[in-house]
Amino acid sequence: MSSKEKPHLNLVIIGHVDHGKSTMTGHLLYLCGSVSDRDLQKFEKEAELIGRGSFKFAWVLDKLKEERERGVTIDLAFYKFETKKYYYTIIDAPGHRDFVKNMITGTSQADAAILVVSAGTGEFEAGVSSTGQTREHALLAKTLGVDQVLVAVNKMDLADYKQERFEEIKNEMERNLKLFGFDMKKVEFVPASGMKGDNLDKKPDSMPWYTGPTLLDALDQFEIPPKPMDKPLRLPIQDVYTITGIGTVPVGRVETGVLKPKEEVIFQPTGKKAAVVSIEMHHENIAEAIPGDNIGFNCKGLSKKDVRRGDVVGHATKPPTIAKEFTATVQIIRHPSAVAAGYTPVIHCGTAQVATRFAELKSKTTKGETTAKPDFLKNGDGAEVLMIPTRDMVIEQYADFPQLGRFAVRDMGQTVAVGIVKKVTPK
Ligand code: GTP
Ligand code: MG
Repeated sequence: MSSKEKPHLNLVIIGHVDHGKSTMTGHLLYLCGSVSDRDLQKFEKEAELIGRGSFKFAWVLDKLKEERERGVTIDLAFYKFETKKYYYTIIDAPGHRDFVKNMITGTSQADAAILVVSAGTGEFEAGVSSTGQTREHALLAKTLGVDQVLVAVNKMDLADYKQERFEEIKNEMERNLKLFGFDMKKVEFVPASGMKGDNLDKKPDSMPWYTGPTLLDALDQFEIPPKPMDKPLRLPIQDVYTITGIGTVPVGRVETGVLKPKEEVIFQPTGKKAAVVSIEMHHENIAEAIPGDNIGFNCKGLSKKDVRRGDVVGHATKPPTIAKEFTATVQIIRHPSAVAAGYTPVIHCGTAQVATRFAELKSKTTKGETTAKPDFLKNGDGAEVLMIPTRDMVIEQYADFPQLGRFAVRDMGQTVAVGIVKKVTPK
């Protein structure tokens, strides 16, 4: 079967900084034939030149000079590979806390996630600590609608491939993921070493105690989420490129509806209208883009300043909603003090990031008890809040467009709350 006939799944790889996401992704790409021996040798030589030989697989993904010198991922990298069952787009996200906003953009486009946790002594513990990114990433994935996750317990070589360490990490992660609302019957835990290659595509000799699937087989247990093709088109823009000979090419993932060449689209919130000329997925022209497709497309007369990350594309006849204000159910997760009316953190919705004011606290629920018009909200509280974006943004009701109807609230470098949009008052 060729990639065109296989079902397509968007996969994001997330987890705490340095837990081995890029290395694991690079190795998977290599094993699935997406990276040649020659390229890998080239990366190995280059990595050795600056004394980072162990990064050869990570360098398949980490292309920026700064990423290579610092040994961290900064921006998202998109790659494709195929297994027996699926054709995957894999999005390698950064783990460093300074780049969580890029991680959010990547996760907002995924159908499923690999949460990488290192089994190395102290590394796992740093990741799940209150300042680590392991739990934050898991919660963000859930908030952004990624219900399918697989936990890769990575760097098993550093734990002498011991079953006890694997079980210890599994128990701790199960507890956390359950709290965030994941269905634990569906979460697979896979021990592996992304660097050495244990349990990626073959049963590992190093872990005879392990009876579950290899990482690749576990990926193939993911399911293709439903494709809401009957709904109006919603396509959040992830980035905009200028390509010589073609022009301005916005890229993003179709969440709902179908996009075809020649159609007239509108970019919201700017209201810019344009006719689509062609649509590309992985460097091939396609006749239509459906939900789940990561595409680039070009439009007649569109210039780079007409569009930016966070815009949402729809058909001109059924444009995405620009919110004057909206009412949301908000859950306060981790705020150092208390949230009162007037609080204006950044909310992340789809690929947009906009400072948004908690204009009115309508009610709060603490341990099952609801009070009207509270003065403030604290960790663990659920609340109904009237929110007002500080600039034009697209936001939709969760019931209509789930992907654009939920958001993460970030402030002071961490995720302080998550929310679901109940009602939007359009501008
Ligand atoms: P960020 O993207 O910056 O969050 O990091 P990352 O999660 O992509 O980690 P990366 O793949 O860059 O690896 C970080 C370090 O861990 C490098 O030194 C790798 O060589 C090392 N590493 C990755 N996987 C393994 C593994 O399976 N075993 C061992 N021993 N080291 C590993
Ligand atoms: Mg990385």
